[in-house]
Amino acid sequence: MWKGKNVTVFVTGGIAAFKVATLVRLFVKAGANVEVAMTKSACEFITPLTFQVLTKNKVHTDTFDEDEASKVQHIHLADKTDVAVVVPATANTIAKMANGIADNFVTSTLLAITAPIFVASAMNEHMWENPATIRNVAQLKADGKVIIEPATGFLAEGYNGKGRLPEPEEIFEQVTFFESRRAYGSPLKGKSVLIAAGGTKERIDPVRYISNDSSGKMGYALAKAASVLGAEVQLVSTAKQLKVPFGVNVTYVESAREMEEVVTAQFPTTDVAVMVAAVSDYYVANRSDQKIKKQHNKSGLKLELAENPDILKGLGHSKKEGQVVIGFAAETEKVLEYAAAKLEKKKADAIIANDVSSSNIGFNADNHQVTILTKEGKQIPLPECSKDALALEIWKTLVAENVIR
Ligand SMILES: Cc1cc2nc3c(=O)[nH]c(=O)nc-3n(C[C@H](O)[C@H](O)[C@H](O)COP(=O)(O)O)c2cc1C
Repeated sequence: MWKGKNVTVFVTGGIAAFKVATLVRLFVKAGANVEVAMTKSACEFITPLTFQVLTKNKVHTDTFDEDEASKVQHIHLADKTDVAVVVPATANTIAKMANGIADNFVTSTLLAITAPIFVASAMNEHMWENPATIRNVAQLKADGKVIIEPATGFLAEGYNGKGRLPEPEEIFEQVTFFESRRAYGSPLKGKSVLIAAGGTKERIDPVRYISNDSSGKMGYALAKAASVLGAEVQLVSTAKQLKVPFGVNVTYVESAREMEEVVTAQFPTTDVAVMVAAVSDYYVANRSDQKIKKQHNKSGLKLELAENPDILKGLGHSKKEGQVVIGFAAETEKVLEYAAAKLEKKKADAIIANDVSSSNIGFNADNHQVTILTKEGKQIPLPECSKDALALEIWKTLVAENVIR
């Protein structure tokens, strides 16, 4: 996504300027060519040298520092910018941007940029809530700038409030999200996508459970990709340890029966349901409400297992109103054969078959390889790649094959 892109970062005079060093590193690491421009006030908080070392580019601070006769620096930088990020954006610079003021290198360049501009603001809560700032931010939104809202938390002033600069990783994720959406278009726009992800846990007692090796990563990658491609995404997840992708709503569940309840309730308002969760086939019928003590007898401990609901089958066989139902088949042998049988048995619209016998791909791994089986009898193998890249390929293929219309 970022390889070869020119990202220009505009740093203005806020206390959070130190966080921009990390943000710049994230863009550089992702392959972007990063240039930094700073206001005079920003240089009070962090030195241009820091950014020069991180970006290997000269840092711009002065409009009249015209050391190359063939170029007007601020126009040259504006023209080559693919994406601009103003961070931290002070109330002062926001006010100038909203009014077209160009009185320093940062504001002059920003006025000349035609590429997307992201504004990540940070300021004291009362400055943020001041009617003048509210007016200026509204004006920037109306002008097509993307505002990355300040977070609520501990402010430099020593109290909690809205005004903190979001963490660099969060800003990077949001900018990447909007840029990916621009790059890929929005083939899932207007679609409501429901994704069940993660391995379910079946409690034995309050501190022990039976589960499986599913990490939930593939489900989260699908949720992230669907959101990038324009869908409204509801994730029903057991994987509390994973970061929820930007723009995705999540409901946490633990057991198969809890998952079924939430998925079934959301299904009527869903356009596409994807069951990528590894749902336990059985639950513990004699679950104990108290921690089970070690049994000092020869017969050991007996767990009684009862069958869980088959969520995918339930959705496939339900009275549908245009919903598309997609399942995953994780197999260790006869992968395509079992997946084809599952497609028919569950009355799904497509099954995504994956071989989980290798430790390089599948459960818990970062890479994956799948074959999509459609109910029209097509088998479409997708190349092995990262789960994020694969998720985008899966959605694009489902749209291209008319599984999702
Ligand atoms: C210690 C300190 C911290 C500041 N933090 C912020 C801030 O977080 N947000 C903000 O809008 N202004 C902040 N200011 C005020 C700006 O630096 C001031 O408005 C300045 O004129 C901004 O100039 P610039 O927009 O050209 O960078 C701070 C000032 C000081 C002295």
